Amino acid sequence: MIIQNIKIQNIRSYDFAELPMESGINAIYGKNGSGKTSLLEAIYFGLSLKSFKTSKTEQILRNNELKGEILITSNRKTIRAIKNKTSTIAIDENNEKKIARKDLLMLFPTCLIENKEFSFTDAQPDYKRKYLNKILFYVEQDFDNLHEKLSKIHKQRLFCLRNGQKNEILVWNKALIEIEPQITTLNKRLINDLNNFFTSNSNLSSFFVKNDWLKGINFQYKPGFDENIGLEKHIHNNFEKEFMINKPLVGLHKRNFNILLDRDIASSILSRGQQKVLSCILHLVSKEFIEKSLKIQPLVLIDDICSELDKENQHLMLKYLNNMNTQAILTSIEKIALDPKFNVNLFHVEQKGDISNVKR
Ligand SMILES: Nc1ncnc2c1ncn2[C@@H]1O[C@H](COP(=O)(O)OP(=O)(O)OP(=O)(O)O)[C@@H](O)[C@H]1O
Ligand SMILES: [Mg+2]
Repeated sequence: MIIQNIKIQNIRSYDFAELPMESGINAIYGKNGSGKTSLLEAIYFGLSLKSFKTSKTEQILRNNELKGEILITSNRKTIRAIKNKTSTIAIDENNEKKIARKDLLMLFPTCLIENKEFSFTDAQPDYKRKYLNKILFYVEQDFDNLHEKLSKIHKQRLFCLRNGQKNEILVWNKALIEIEPQITTLNKRLINDLNNFFTSNSNLSSFFVKNDWLKGINFQYKPGFDENIGLEKHIHNNFEKEFMINKPLVGLHKRNFNILLDRDIASSILSRGQQKVLSCILHLVSKEFIEKSLKIQPLVLIDDICSELDKENQHLMLKYLNNMNTQAILTSIEKIALDPKFNVNLFHVEQKGDISNVKR
C-alpha cells in the first residue's frame, strides 16, 4: 500500500493542509512549535483512529472546532477519518461504508517512532506489553481473539476481587488457567524470534557494525508468574491475599520482557543515544516482522529523527529506509539532517499567528 496524498482539516494547529506523498522518504522540517508532530499525529490518526499523544482524541481537534478530518489516498484505497467531539469513524471512500478499526490497521500497518518510544528500553511493563501485543496482532492469526478473551477474564476477576465474590471468581480463575499456555507460547515464540533476529545477519546489519554493543542485546520473557510454580498453584496460594488487597497478584496481565545487554538490564548501562538507537532498531524489527507476515510494508513514521542520534546513525537510518524502499514520513528541526543524496520529498512547515502552513 503506497500513500499518495494526505489532506488534513481542523486538526491541532492546522485549518487545512495537503501533502502529496512520494513512495520513498518524505520529510517535514520546521522550527519548534511549527506543526511537525501535529502532522504526524494527524496521519497516524487517519490510519489508526488513535493519537500517540493523547487518549482523549477530541484534543486533536483544532481550537473550538467541532469536526476534524483526515483524508488518506493510497494506490488501493481512500480512507476518510472523521473526528467529532464525541465520535471517531473511518469511511472507506471507495464504497462509502464505515471501516472497522481492526480492518483499517490491517490495511495500513504503521511503524511509529516518536518521543515516548525513545525511552522504550526503560519503559513501564505495560508499554513493552503493547509492543508485543502489536506484533502478535499482525503475525499470529489467533492472537486478537485470545487477547480479547484475556482482557475479559482479567476484568471479571478484578470485579470479583473488588466485590468479594469468592465463588464467582472460580469460573474466571479456571478460564485464566486454560488460556495461559496459548498466550505464553505465542509470546515466547515472539521473544525467541527477536533473539534470533538480533543474532542473525539482517537488513539492519549496518547498525550492528557501527553500534557494536547491539550484539550483546538479548531479550528475556517474563510470563507474569513463576513458571516453576505454575499459574494454577500461584492462584491457589494467593487466593485469600488477592481478596485482601482487591487486585490480582499474579497473571498474564503482568507479562513483560527484559531487555538485556549481555546479562544486565540494558537501560541501566546504555547512554540516552544508545537507548534511542536500540528503540529505533526494535521498532524497525517489529516493522520487518509485520511486513513478512502481512506482505504489506508498514508506513514508517519517525518524529524528530535527529534528536539524540549522531550523524552516522541518522545517515544509517535514512540509508536503511532508502535501501528497503520503505515509505516513510520523518520530521526534523533542520533540513540539513535530511541528506539530499537520498531523494527526500521535503515539506516545510511554519506557523503564522496560530495557524500552521505546509509547503513543498
Ligand atoms: N488543539 C489545538 N488547536 C490549535 N493549536 C494547537 C492544538 N494543539 C496544539 N496546538 C499548537 O500546535 C502547534 C504545533 O505543535 P507541534 O507539536 O506540532 O510542533 P512541532 O513542530 O512538532 O514542535 P517541536 O519541534 O517542538 O517538536 C503548537 O504551537 C501548539 O501550541
Ligand atoms: Mg514535535
